[in-house]
Amino acid sequence: SASPTETPAGTQFTAVTPNAEDAVVIPEGYEQAVVIKWGDPILPDTPAFDFDNQTPQAQERQFGFNNDFAGLLPIEGKPNAFLLVCNHEYSTETFMFSGYDPNSPTLQQFQVGVTTHGLSVVQVKGESGSGKLTPEFGPYNRRITGNSEFLVTGPAAGSDLLKTTADPTATKVIGTLNNCSGGVTPWGTILSGEENFNQYFANFDTVADPAAKDRLKRYGFVGAASLRRWENFDPRFDLAVEPNEANRFGYIVEVNPWDATSTPIKHTAMGRFKHESANIYVTADGTVVAYSGDDEKFDYMYKFVSSRKMQPGNGQASMRHNLTLLDAGTLYVAKLTGNEPDQIDGTGKIPSDKGFSGTGEWIAILKTGEDGKGQSLVDGMSAEEVAVFTRFAGDKVGATKMDRPEDFQPNPNTGKVYVALTNNDKRGTEGKAKADEANPRNTNKNGQILEITDDHAGTAFTWTLLLVCGDPQAADTYFGGFDKSKVSPISCPDNLAFDSYGNLWISTDGNALKSNDGLFSVVLEGPNRGETKQFLTVPKGAETCGPIITDERVTVCVQHPGEEDDASADKPASHWPDGGATQPRPAVVAVWKTGGGRIGIQA
Ligand code: FEO
Ligand code: CA
Ligand code: CA
Ligand code: CA
Repeated sequence: SASPTETPAGTQFTAVTPNAEDAVVIPEGYEQAVVIKWGDPILPDTPAFDFDNQTPQAQERQFGFNNDFAGLLPIEGKPNAFLLVCNHEYSTETFMFSGYDPNSPTLQQFQVGVTTHGLSVVQVKGESGSGKLTPEFGPYNRRITGNSEFLVTGPAAGSDLLKTTADPTATKVIGTLNNCSGGVTPWGTILSGEENFNQYFANFDTVADPAAKDRLKRYGFVGAASLRRWENFDPRFDLAVEPNEANRFGYIVEVNPWDATSTPIKHTAMGRFKHESANIYVTADGTVVAYSGDDEKFDYMYKFVSSRKMQPGNGQASMRHNLTLLDAGTLYVAKLTGNEPDQIDGTGKIPSDKGFSGTGEWIAILKTGEDGKGQSLVDGMSAEEVAVFTRFAGDKVGATKMDRPEDFQPNPNTGKVYVALTNNDKRGTEGKAKADEANPRNTNKNGQILEITDDHAGTAFTWTLLLVCGDPQAADTYFGGFDKSKVSPISCPDNLAFDSYGNLWISTDGNALKSNDGLFSVVLEGPNRGETKQFLTVPKGAETCGPIITDERVTVCVQHPGEEDDASADKPASHWPDGGATQPRPAVVAVWKTGGGRIGIQA
C-alpha cells in the first residue's frame, strides 16, 4: 500500500493540544463566535434573560438549556440563511438556579425545568467573508418543550400500554424529554432521540406487579423520588399514579421545522429505547434506512428499513408522505461475530495484522404494515410489546451487547456506516459480558469507533474497528493502522459527522484522559486512514456535541459547561461564554477560517 502522504483535504489544520482551559480552543488561523446560548430570544417580545428571575413564560420563548444535537438547514430562496435546530437534552437545576434545593424544588423551578427541555428552531443568517451566524426572528422559529403536544404513530399508537388518564386514546403525548442527538433527514425534517427518560419518573419502588417492575428495571428506573421531583407538581411523573406515562417516552421524534404549527411525531415502529439519535441512508432504489443506537452499557444497535419510498421535492404533498416513511417497515437489531474471537483477552490487543473485524446479521424483530399494524417477529412478545419494550426483543434474539452505542451514522460519500461506542467501564466485570472483538477491552474507559459495510436494505454486513480510542502511547489503542506517534489522543467518542471530502468528525463526551472534551477529524480512506487530529476543545466540564462540518464553518454545541461534581450555580466551575463572574451557559459556537477560506484546506 502507498505510504502516508501529506494530510488530506479537510484535515489540514494544526491540531489543538489537550488542555483544561475554560474556553473553546481552536486552531491557529481560525476564528469563533457564539451563535446562540441558553436564554437568548427565539421569538419576538421575549423578556431579556435574567438569571435571577426566570419564568416558564420567558423560557418558552428562549433558547433552552443543554443543547446537544444541532442541525443547520439551508432556507431556499434566502442565500446564506439557515434554520438552526437544536435539542435541549436536560435541565441542570443546580446550575440554572442559585440556591437550588434538590430536595425541595419550587413550582417555578419545576415549570422552567420542563419548559427548558425539548427543541429550538431558529433562523440564523450568515455573512460573507466569515462563518459567523446571527440569530433572527423568522416564520419558522419555535420552541418545542416538555409541554408540547406530540402525535403517536406506529404499532403502539392506541395501545393499552400507552393509555393514561389524560390520554385514553394513547395517541397524544405531552412533551419530549432528554432529546440527546438527532439527524437531518433527506426530506428536510429533524429526527431527535429521546434518551435517558427514566430519570423523570418517581416511585419505581412502589410498583408491585413483578412484570411491570422487570420492564421498568430493564429501562433503568430506580428508587422513590425522581432526580428533579417533578412528581411533586404533576402526577404524570409518578409511576404509582400513572404507570403508563413512562411508556410514552423513549422514541424517535420527528419534527417538520418548515411549519411552525406542525405537530411533532413519536414513531413507535422504530422501537423504544434510549435512542441517542437516528440517521438516514437512502439506497439507490429509494429505500429509506434509519440507524439508531441504544446508549446504555451492554445495549444494542438497531436499524429500521421503511417499506415506503421517499418522494422527491419539498412540496406539501411530498412532506405529508415523507412524514410517514418511518411508520411502515421492519425494525432490526444487530448481532456481530468476530473473526478471531479466541484471541480476544480483554486487553484490546489486536488479534492479528487484520485488526478487529467480523461479520454481522440484522435480526428482524418487528414488522409494521401499510395499515400501521405491527407484527411481532419475536416469540412470546406481541407487536405492541416489541414496540414499547424493545430491549426485551433484543435480549430474546441474542443481539450483541455493545459498549454504549451513541451516534450511528452513514457516510454519504461511501455508504459505510459508523458507530461511536463511547465507553463501558462495566465490560468484563462480575456477571457482565466479557470483551469480544467489537468491544475488545474490559473496563473500557475510552471507547471505540465501529465501521460497518452494510447491505442497507438487507440483513448481512461486515464490520471492522476504525479506532480503539485512548492515549495513543498506550498498547490498547488503535488508529486504523496509522502511525500512533502522529495522532491526537481521543477518548469517549459520542457524536459523528462527515465533511464534504468524506472524512469523519467525532465529538467527545467524558474524556477519560484528564483533558477537556473536543472535536476531532479522522481520515477514512487512503494511506492516511486513521489519522486523527483534534480541531477544538470545549470549556471545563462541557461535552462537545452536535458537530456540523461544512466547507465554510464548523458548528458545535457546547453542552453543560462547568458540569463538575462539586459545582453549582453558587460555585460554577466555568464562566464560559460570558467570562468574569458570570454563570456558565450552554451555547452553540461557529468556527471559521480567518478571511473565510475552506475549513481544513491549507491556503
Ligand atoms: Fe445523551 Fe448518549 O448521550
Ligand atoms: Ca449530552
Ligand atoms: Ca450523546
Ligand atoms: Ca454521551
